[in-house]
Amino acid sequence: MKIISVVGARPNFMKVAPFIHTINAYNREHPNSVVHLLVHTGQHYDDRMSKSFFEALNIPDADINLGIGSGTHAEQVGLSMIELEKVFVVEKPDWVVVFGDVNATMAASVSAKKLHIKVCHVEAGLRSGDMKMPEEINRLVTDRLSDLLLTPDRLSIENLKAEGASDNRIRFVGNIMIDTLESNRAKAESLVINEIIGNNQIESSDITNFDLISQFAVMTLHRPSNVDHKEVLEPLVNFLVDEIAEKLTIIWAVHPRTQKQLKAFNLWDKVAESKNIYLVHPLDYHSMLKLNMQAKIMLTDSGGLQEECTVLGTPCLTMRWNTERPITLREHGGASVLVGNNIERIREEFNQTLSTPRKPERPELWDGHTAKRCLEAILFYKG
Ligand code: UD1
Repeated sequence: MKIISVVGARPNFMKVAPFIHTINAYNREHPNSVVHLLVHTGQHYDDRMSKSFFEALNIPDADINLGIGSGTHAEQVGLSMIELEKVFVVEKPDWVVVFGDVNATMAASVSAKKLHIKVCHVEAGLRSGDMKMPEEINRLVTDRLSDLLLTPDRLSIENLKAEGASDNRIRFVGNIMIDTLESNRAKAESLVINEIIGNNQIESSDITNFDLISQFAVMTLHRPSNVDHKEVLEPLVNFLVDEIAEKLTIIWAVHPRTQKQLKAFNLWDKVAESKNIYLVHPLDYHSMLKLNMQAKIMLTDSGGLQEECTVLGTPCLTMRWNTERPITLREHGGASVLVGNNIERIREEFNQTLSTPRKPERPELWDGHTAKRCLEAILFYKG
């Protein structure tokens, strides 16, 4: 059997890693059973957004990198489709496997399906209901086209069924990202927080004294809805600097999009000059995991971090109005609460959450063995 996995952006890398390791293990027991090729569209190309994850998670270099880089959504998806089609025509895989909800996920599923190649979607069935999110469009299109829908939880199964997906296309496999978390816990644990900050500090943040941090918040922010409009980002920044940072040290891992926007809106200096905010580059996998393990609280608009917080028990303020991952919310047993970008709401939940103890939760099948179930679903698929 020949499988091509397609990845493009940071959140894909921690999902493809256990899948590739599982294929390698399977091939050791059943020599030459699965031929696997890894294709990277190149949407994320910085060392910190891409290469560092390949290295840290032992992902082999991509067999093919399409180098599409940045661009509008149509440019990214269109260019990826054109190049992926060429790869699929030459390589003739039995399956194309896609992960999550980034532009590469949708581009690959459309190109493959039009060539009558079977498509498997890992992380199927998540829905935010928010059609303004590019990821929601990617999720809907990919799931509509996929032959095999591998879901991380039971809520996702209900979403797929409500859209008419038949039972034989759906398999509940659990959360593949947790495979990566579990196999990297020990290494992350061994890191030293001050060194993480020191090694990743953004030059212009002008902070010299980063020892003795015992309690801190970790923050990431990159959604267009939070960072692309000055009228949203400016009050958020003012609130962070003037209120939150006064109560708790913030370690902010700044996404390239966000750095660009903070500078464009003349907000960068205000954050950089705050003595209690440590601005760091996008972090490698183990560094972020270590911070998450120790953080008093997480402030984020990332999907993956919501899930990791649930398993680690880190209280998480999700700076969005909706989530495609409701299983991470407190009402479903998780560690996260939706606060959007409303200052009042963030303040209220922040103060309340500061006194909330850690409460690790393990949703069903988030057990570190999801990749094996994914591969089995493909190998034993009966169409
Ligand atoms: C993408 C994903 C999003 C995911 C996020 C994680 C889609 C639709 N979105 O959003 O779901 O949560 O990745 O990071 O696929 N840039 C760099 N260096 C890079 C990559 C990007 O500087 O290596 C810059 C680009 O020039 C661009 C900005 O960062 O201006 C945003 O990158 P883009 O790939 O458009 O989307 P993300 O916001 O990263």
